[in-house]
Amino acid sequence: MLRRHLPALLLAGCGSTQAAAPVRVTPGSGLHARAAAKGLAFGAAITARQLGEPDLVAALRADCGLLVPEYEQKWRIIEPERGRRSFAGPDMIARFARVSGMGLRGHTLLWHESEPGWAGELTPAALAEAADRHVAVTAAHFAGRITTWDVLNEAIHIADGRPDWLRRTRLLRLLGPDYIPRAFTLARAADPAARLAYNDYGCEHATLYGRRKRLAVLALLRALKASGAPVQVLGVQGHLSAHLPFEANEWRDFLGEVAQLGLTIEITELDVNDRALPAAPGPRDAAVADLTRRFLDASLAEPALRSVTAWGLSDRHSWVRRGVLADHRRRDSALARPLPYDDEMRRKPMWHAIAAAFDSAPVRPAV
Ligand code: XIL
Repeated sequence: MLRRHLPALLLAGCGSTQAAAPVRVTPGSGLHARAAAKGLAFGAAITARQLGEPDLVAALRADCGLLVPEYEQKWRIIEPERGRRSFAGPDMIARFARVSGMGLRGHTLLWHESEPGWAGELTPAALAEAADRHVAVTAAHFAGRITTWDVLNEAIHIADGRPDWLRRTRLLRLLGPDYIPRAFTLARAADPAARLAYNDYGCEHATLYGRRKRLAVLALLRALKASGAPVQVLGVQGHLSAHLPFEANEWRDFLGEVAQLGLTIEITELDVNDRALPAAPGPRDAAVADLTRRFLDASLAEPALRSVTAWGLSDRHSWVRRGVLADHRRRDSALARPLPYDDEMRRKPMWHAIAAAFDSAPVRPAV
């Protein structure tokens, strides 16, 4: 099924760099080249099926030094039936990344939204066993191929009302908060080389919600460090909203506090929700680019910030456009434009904002 959509070139091992493409590539001018000049990396989320789109592949080659599977490494995709695992999609992405000289982020070992349906039937002991096995087997399968694993995704939900702000997931309810350090320890044992991340959304904006979320994330990271769990990275998703305030100073303070804990930081899912912006593409793209630039300038000023990954390259693939979340849906019929390339793979002002932010970023200290 998947193979039908992939060009012979890719199935033959992705060795050629001559995919037919509308994007003109000048060596060194792409986003990753600009990032790498500062000791940073730039990447994008993709699906295996998208590797069959020559114009996208050309842009990936032009701009990315890092890829991440948008959904194919999630538990419910890898293990749709208990004990029956398939790694076909993410293995294809991993192979493409390897032959293209790109790194691969792992996303995500545990996420409440990606638990397979069958896990809902299990007793606490069986669930603990299944979750442990999933983390260990998946991390072992990709060992040596992952730069950073998002071990745990979105485990905080302040509205759930717990004093520790943890999300009341099924794993939490049945196994208790220890499921968190346990996942990190298992991932470390299975893949000693990957950096291990906690990844979450909602920290970025200067809202009451954002401030609370930042406190909760810092509390979780501190608790994890205190417990000896091998957490090394905070992934800030970077799902920005053009209708929310952003304050560079408070964002930099937060990143500084994370760095103080001895962690590095990655922006893992950058895109801009434009649902409240005017429909006309000109002003909309300008506002999206402006927020992107302010966010990246503030982020890249923090030496512990190491990579920026966009949640897709082209608007035509964005989950924002699909309206997965109610907060993504526009009132008019205009299509969302949250990413650096438009539907025809033309570079938008957001692409230029990212390029300019890398160009003016300070060089990272050597690791
Ligand atoms: C989303 C994908 O974009 C969708 O294709 C999928 O249907 C659901 O997941 N935070 C995350 C990502 O960490 O894994 C989510 O990705 C978007 C929100």
